[in-house]
Amino acid sequence: MPNLFTPYTLKGVTLRNRIAMSPMTMYRSTDGKLDDFHLMYLGARAAGGFGLVFPEQIAITPDGRTTTHCAGLYNDDQIEGHKRTVDMIKSMGGVAAIQLGHTGRKGSLVTPWEGGHMLPPEHAAGWETRAPSAIAYGGDMPYVPRALTVDEIAQLMQDYADTASRAVEAGYEWIEMHFAHGYLGSEFFSPLANQRTDQYGGSLENRTRFHLEALDAVRAVVPDHIPLTMRLGIDDLHPGGVTVDESITAIGWMKEHGLDLADLSIGFNTDNMSGDVPIGVLGGMVKNATRVKEEVGIPVATSWNLGQPEIANRVIEENLLDLVFLGRPALANAHWPVYAARVLGYADPFGLVPEDWAWWLRNLRGADEAIGWPAATNGASLTEVAGVAAAAPLIEEPSPQSLSVDFEEERADELEAA
Ligand SMILES: Cc1cc2nc3c(=O)[nH]c(=O)nc-3n(C[C@H](O)[C@H](O)[C@H](O)COP(=O)(O)O)c2cc1C
Repeated sequence: MPNLFTPYTLKGVTLRNRIAMSPMTMYRSTDGKLDDFHLMYLGARAAGGFGLVFPEQIAITPDGRTTTHCAGLYNDDQIEGHKRTVDMIKSMGGVAAIQLGHTGRKGSLVTPWEGGHMLPPEHAAGWETRAPSAIAYGGDMPYVPRALTVDEIAQLMQDYADTASRAVEAGYEWIEMHFAHGYLGSEFFSPLANQRTDQYGGSLENRTRFHLEALDAVRAVVPDHIPLTMRLGIDDLHPGGVTVDESITAIGWMKEHGLDLADLSIGFNTDNMSGDVPIGVLGGMVKNATRVKEEVGIPVATSWNLGQPEIANRVIEENLLDLVFLGRPALANAHWPVYAARVLGYADPFGLVPEDWAWWLRNLRGADEAIGWPAATNGASLTEVAGVAAAAPLIEEPSPQSLSVDFEEERADELEAA
């Protein structure tokens, strides 16, 4: 039975464990380039034991960025910064992944700490956004995007392919496309953003056409051993939006077009979400991700509140997910995998860091519990240490809250017993 620390192979690429650092936009680029900050920040996470390491969403065109501070790979001058970062990730034992993206109608923003709102097209740091239909997102993003022409869509496919080729040149070994979070791919998928009447709008088949063409375009230029994955917004949590059921049908088609793994997230095509919004709930996306895994027969990953080691390990041990993506936990703790390994009683937690550091951590005598992570648990099995061996299965009832309920109940039991 694999656990969180079991290596994982997809196509011709093997990760040292099942822990991925999820893509996170840092708003620290100049001219769309990765620089010393990215080298330090991403290299540290690879040194901390993450098996797969993503920089942020990387724009395929200048207008595909969120802000003018965001990163891209839309020209050859940007390759060098990526290559330096990729080389560092590899030298620390990680596999470097890229997330190709275009923000569509959610671009032309200021940074979150400046308010995160949209700038008008005439502003020096703003631009006219492009999207499937001329429908503004609304709220803080009030400016109406220009609807893409069919010729522009064809050019975007070329942009995806050209960016993927540069990514391969930079040394990336894993390519993900960002088709979630209300960005361009997600906009094509969602009736909330896509009201086109041509071959890219209307029926589910038409709303998936953009995805299938993009997969074809990228697969054609990427060597076969490199996994091609997509972050997909499988639920808009809105009565007029994308549903999990139709996402499952569409992911089946994507699998036929070379999708190797589905990284499942929310549509975020509206702020007006209803129902069981999983983003504030421990493991809230797991149930739907497992549905996709079982019904489509494709490897899956997800993020959202999986940063408790016990939960991260259980979703792998119980075969609910193939990979665990961590966003905020990776920001908070560059050595999260080592921390989790100590908490869970993994036999050689320091084997996750580069060999020379590991030597010191294994051999310098001193009080083990003073090292800076939870004390080692001396060889107990992962499930025993995590105290989850007898826990209820994570998925038993068709309730989207089941995972969080299980853990809430476990905690209440533990408190009572203490
Ligand atoms: C600072 C920050 C930036 C993010 N940027 C991206 C991004 O560029 N692409 C993306 O797909 N998700 C992005 N996300 C979402 C994360 O990848 C992740 O899915 C989310 O934080 C949920 O995982 P968590 O609960 O482990 O944080 C971002 C999240 C944070 C906190």
